[in-house]
Amino acid sequence: MKTVSDQPLDLQPYKSVDNETLSRRIEAVRQELGSKLLILGHHYQQDEVIEHSDLRGDSLQLSQMAAESGDCRYIVFCGVHFMAETADILANGPEKLAERGGERVAVILPDLAAGCSMADMAAIQQVEDAWEDLGEWIDTERVVPVTYINSAANLKAFCAKHGGIVCTSSNASAVLEWAFRQGDRVLFFPDQHLGRNTALKMGITNDRMPVWNPHEEQGGLTEGQVRNSKVVLWQGHCSVHQMFSPEHVRMFREQHEGIKILVHPECPQEVNDLADISGSTGKIINTVRQAKPGTKWAIGTELHLVNRLKKEHPEQEIHFLSPVVCMCATMYRIDLAHLCWSLENLAAGTIVNHIDVDAEVAEWSRIALQRMLEMR
Ligand code: 13P
Ligand code: SF4
Repeated sequence: MKTVSDQPLDLQPYKSVDNETLSRRIEAVRQELGSKLLILGHHYQQDEVIEHSDLRGDSLQLSQMAAESGDCRYIVFCGVHFMAETADILANGPEKLAERGGERVAVILPDLAAGCSMADMAAIQQVEDAWEDLGEWIDTERVVPVTYINSAANLKAFCAKHGGIVCTSSNASAVLEWAFRQGDRVLFFPDQHLGRNTALKMGITNDRMPVWNPHEEQGGLTEGQVRNSKVVLWQGHCSVHQMFSPEHVRMFREQHEGIKILVHPECPQEVNDLADISGSTGKIINTVRQAKPGTKWAIGTELHLVNRLKKEHPEQEIHFLSPVVCMCATMYRIDLAHLCWSLENLAAGTIVNHIDVDAEVAEWSRIALQRMLEMR
C-alpha cells in the first residue's frame, strides 16, 4: 500500500452517483478489506454515513476506540479533523507500533474540509502569546493548561509541555479537579462555555473566570482580573451550540407541559442553567435510552443526533430545542460520495486525505491525551 496519494481516483464522478449505488460500493470495500479497515463515526454524522461505520461514539469513546484498535491498518474517520488527528496519535503510539512490528495505522478523513470552527478559534501562536502575557502578571508554573479535545494537535502538545491535559465533554469535571490538584489556576481553551459550565458546577464563580480575547492586547483583561482568576477562559465557542437561547427553553416549557430540557455543555451558561440535564453526547444518548415511554424532551445539541434519537425512540416525544435548524456544517461534509471515494482509493492501493500528525507534535500530544485516558 502506498502512503502518499499517487494518481488517486477522481472525486468528481462520485458526486453524481446515487446513494444506493454508493452504499453498495462502500460495503464491497468493507468486505474486501475486512478487519484491516475500521470505520469510526461520530454521533453527529448523517444517518446514511453512520450506517457504514463499524463503531460509533462521542469524542471520548472514539479516542478510546482508536487507542484500542487491534488488527486494523486503516482508520477511516467519519468525523472532523481534530478527531482524525487524535486517532492517528493514539493508534500509532510506541506500544501500538511495537505490537504491529512497526507498522503504522493510516488515518483517513474522507473530506479534508471537515474541520471544527471552534477548534480553529485557538491557534498555537495565540495560545503561546497568551501564556507569555499571563506570565507578566502571574506565575504560569502554577497554571495548568487544559484543552478541550476539539483542538489542533499542537495545542494538545502545548498542554503536555506545560503539565496540562486534554478533556472531552464527558470528563471535563474530573479533568478540572485533576488540574486543580496540579496547580492553582487553569487556562481553558478553546470553548469558553464548556469551561464555564464545568467550573460553575465546582463552585467557581464567574467573577473568577475572566475571558481571554486573543485578538486584544493582554487578552482584553486587567492585571487584577487575571490575579483574581481561578479559570482563565478562552474566547471560543461552538456556533452550533451557542445558537440555543433561554428564549427557546421558555418557549418549549410554555408550549409542552412537563417537557424536560436536555443540553450539551457547549451551550451558553444561561441555557445550561435553565436545563434539567446537561451532558456530553454520550450522556444525552444514555439519558434518552433510559427514559420512560412518553417522556417529553427538547434537546439542545447537533440536529442529526437529535433526529436519530427521535427515530430510535418513537415511544418518547423528542424535539430539537430551537425553531431554527442548525447543524454542524463541517461534520456534514462527510457524505457517501467522499466516503466511497476514499475507500475505493484505499482498495486501489492509494491513501487519500491521510492525516499524519508531525512525529514530535504527536509524541507530546499523546502525553496529554494519555493523562486524560488514564485519569479515571
Ligand atoms: P462530544 O465530546 O460530546 O462528542 O462532542 C464533540 C463535539 O464536537 C461537540 O460539538
Ligand atoms: Fe466543532 Fe461545534 Fe461541529 Fe462540534 S458541533 S465539531 S464543536 S463546530
